[in-house]
Amino acid sequence: MKGRTALVTGASRGIGAAIAAKFRAEGANVVGPARAELDLSSAASIDAYLGKLSAPVDILVNCAGMNRLGSSVEVADGHFEETLQVHLLGPFRLARALAPKMASRRWGRILNISSVWSLVTRERRVTYSSAKSAMNGLTRSLAVEYGPSGVLVNALAPGYVDTELTRKNNSAEEIAQIEKAIPLGRLGNPAELAEAASFLCSGRNGYITGQVLVADGGYTCR
Ligand SMILES: NC(=O)c1ccc[n+]([C@@H]2O[C@H](COP(=O)([O-])OP(=O)(O)OC[C@H]3O[C@@H](n4cnc5c(N)ncnc54)[C@H](OP(=O)(O)O)[C@@H]3O)[C@@H](O)[C@H]2O)c1
Repeated sequence: MKGRTALVTGASRGIGAAIAAKFRAEGANVVGPARAELDLSSAASIDAYLGKLSAPVDILVNCAGMNRLGSSVEVADGHFEETLQVHLLGPFRLARALAPKMASRRWGRILNISSVWSLVTRERRVTYSSAKSAMNGLTRSLAVEYGPSGVLVNALAPGYVDTELTRKNNSAEEIAQIEKAIPLGRLGNPAELAEAASFLCSGRNGYITGQVLVADGGYTCR
């Protein structure tokens, strides 16, 4: 990690902030653009940001995300499109621009922050589950494409992590119920996700690529 440059989206808070802090503590130079500089919901914003980005990026962490709830009859087209833009097309655009440069240096890491809802689902998560499932497909496709060039691409799939996103989408009563359903008996904390991210994005990981690592306290085991 030392001396590497990492671009972490969604670094203003939650899991992304913890990943940025962990990478910095391990000696990486972390670039964590605010939404005003890089808005994942806008292809134009992504292209403008990439056009200005001068540092060679060794590690890309696609962490920015949102989860607006709704059933299939409730969601508007625009809502679905925005979810796909932020979780799938935005990360794709960043990877498409940055991975070839990693490949030319024969080293790179891409980590997509997916979700357990990419593998299982829950009511009113139709856009989120669809987008995160597609993100896993993107992960595998890029891993195959860039494996020969030394660029490893993985996804990290958190369960329930104690962040604003989780507190916004679940009441205190729901969280108490959720904690009962998690074998470890509690929500995860962002620093625990950052530990896994750090391993997957470092030179300590030499042979894991194209995988979706679930970090959910055992939630999906039942
Ligand atoms: N929390 C969980 O339990 C959980 C579980 C599974 C997966 N995840 C995934 O983990 C990632 C981080 O989640 P979190 O819980 O840390 O969320 P969070 O606390 O709500 O933080 C979301 C981050 O994403 C950024 N963001 C959202 N929309 C953006 C956009 N259009 N352009 C640029 N940045 C944008 C936010 O920036 P602003 O500060 O500008 O809003 C913020 O930095 C997400 O991809 C989420 O789907 C979370």
